Amino acid sequence: MQNQNFTSCWLPDGRREKRSNKLIVTILSKAEVIRRVCHTYLSHLFEGFHIGTELNSQDEIVIGTYEATAQACTNDMQVDGFELRQEQGKTYILSHSDQGLLYGTFYFIEQLQLGMKIEDMSVIQNPATTIRMLNHWDNMDGSIERGYAGRSIFFEDNKLSYDKDRIQQYADLLSSVGINKICINNVNVHQVESRLIEADMLIELQHLADIFRGNYITMFLSINFASPIEIGGLKTADPLDSTVEEWWRRQTKLIYQKIPDFGGFIVKADSEHRPGPFTYGRTHADGANMLAKALAPFNGTVFWRCFVYDCLQDWRDRSTDRARAAYDHFKKLDGLFDENVILQIKNGPMDFQVREPVSPLIGALEKTNYVMEFQVTQEYTGQQIDLCYLVPQWKEILDFDTHLKGKGTTVSEILSGNLHKSLQTGITAVVNVGRDDNWTGHEFAQANLYGYGKLTWDPTFKTEKLLKDWVQITYPFVKDSATRLIEEILNRSWMIYEKYTCPLGVGWMVKTGHHYGPDVNGYEYSPWGTYHFSDRNGLGVDRTKSGSNYIEQYSANVSELYANLNSCPDNLLLFFHHVPYTHPLHSGKTVIQHIYDSHFEGVEDVEHIIYEWTREKANLPDDLYSHINQKLNSQLTNATEWRDKINTYFYRMSGIPDEHQRLIYG
Ligand code: GCU
Repeated sequence: MQNQNFTSCWLPDGRREKRSNKLIVTILSKAEVIRRVCHTYLSHLFEGFHIGTELNSQDEIVIGTYEATAQACTNDMQVDGFELRQEQGKTYILSHSDQGLLYGTFYFIEQLQLGMKIEDMSVIQNPATTIRMLNHWDNMDGSIERGYAGRSIFFEDNKLSYDKDRIQQYADLLSSVGINKICINNVNVHQVESRLIEADMLIELQHLADIFRGNYITMFLSINFASPIEIGGLKTADPLDSTVEEWWRRQTKLIYQKIPDFGGFIVKADSEHRPGPFTYGRTHADGANMLAKALAPFNGTVFWRCFVYDCLQDWRDRSTDRARAAYDHFKKLDGLFDENVILQIKNGPMDFQVREPVSPLIGALEKTNYVMEFQVTQEYTGQQIDLCYLVPQWKEILDFDTHLKGKGTTVSEILSGNLHKSLQTGITAVVNVGRDDNWTGHEFAQANLYGYGKLTWDPTFKTEKLLKDWVQITYPFVKDSATRLIEEILNRSWMIYEKYTCPLGVGWMVKTGHHYGPDVNGYEYSPWGTYHFSDRNGLGVDRTKSGSNYIEQYSANVSELYANLNSCPDNLLLFFHHVPYTHPLHSGKTVIQHIYDSHFEGVEDVEHIIYEWTREKANLPDDLYSHINQKLNSQLTNATEWRDKINTYFYRMSGIPDEHQRLIYG
């Protein structure tokens, strides 16, 4: 297929066959964004189209609030929900708010891209949660912590530096999947980023906030808890010190003078060497509430991260288990946080591993607001070199039944606010975009951003449907057999990645620091609390009663599920248990044979994908073909390295040969 010189993206861009008719749209909303979005994206979908501002007999599409269109209101519509309604030959895009109209318009555009007939479009959609957020880990020098898609889209040379059009396109990408909050800088706030809340920086940030505001996306900043010392010239950052309180009040007021709809702060405190209230003998509630009080007059919010653990642990100390940390630190503070504090809890108890159980803190807080934090950027999941479509992982987490209030208390029910109705809950994530033309480095990693947004809107979305939609709207020019292949390889990619990197939930056998590639003992004798405890007899971490008793943090049902070797799922066995290499799995294999088999299979799977990809070459545009081909070949090198190192390591440890006598280096 000819080169099309493209950067594919899921918003329409003129590479799709246009519908032959002319579309007449009437916009009964003053929101500039609706008009701009129609102009920018609908023009690519029709031979001609016209926008009017008054109802007339020729309109086909009418976009407006229930009030403006004089349409009867549907019950239970949330303020940012929307409806597509067929009425007397017209299609109405309706909502209570302009924000809802924006989402409705993007939905309409997507349905067109999916080939739907306009007259068949009839739907009511409400978002599952009001917190649908993204966190950038961008530094002001332009680097991105755990970024695999080039430099920051916001910063360079310790200044704000961005292309307005690109940020606008980014805002559109986010709105098209319902994202409504964004934090633009890294949770690790270094000296220069501490200054983002000073007057001169705020003047520049105003313009960025303007763009996001235009799309109803609220901007947040990560702050340094020690700012009163580092930029304020005070001697302390003690949250109970009145000069510190006053300093934050003044600084916060300054922010709101420049950015009246500023969202608030993200805080990583007492975590991985970042300053926090512990320095002053204060609690995390003291720290968070002090900031919350400064933000409250302006309706601002503090997102306070629960990623608090001892990162200077002695590996000899078997009684400390990092997995326990978030729950142990925060459960006892439940009810002590102000209303505008939202705790931010990583999806698992450790750190965005390939596989972890759900964090027991989710659902355990009854009087404190919280969000779950995912990682869209692929730190431990292939770094946008290896293919790893994460939606199946997130779906498994969202569908997990915590049994906290009986059967059916799934994580998505909890995050949708159905467990504790008075609490604010939602979802946030570390994003995966950068300055690369295709946004995400590996073009298929865009599917993770798309899927993440869609799941925050509706956690019940089916993985297969999300994937099918993304492929169809992103690659309209790719032939059927090739689209099916893209879907298939994405769908299996997490499982394949898991096969060669993380057998049976063990985790952490990665190279230290950058976290790409294998190093079985890289973290084994480190202070980070990340161990697998392999010896000549077996491996895994005992988190049952005979070990750290981490399992006690779950509901009785879940605790029982994991405690019992008969019910603990194979894929989390080594997360919860230390077992001999000869331990039989539910699959019928022994642990050691599973380790060998899965590593051989993982490499064979990657080889097979490369073979299939090569077979589809004629049906793919040249640059897409070679972009993915190059990534797949790098993945194969990585998978091979993992296979050989892990298999050799465990063969040497256990002395047990492979039943199938394949090549394992001695
Ligand atoms: C991980 C990651 C860090 C990050 C941290 C966090 O440990 O490797 O780069 O800062 O998570 O979430 O704060």
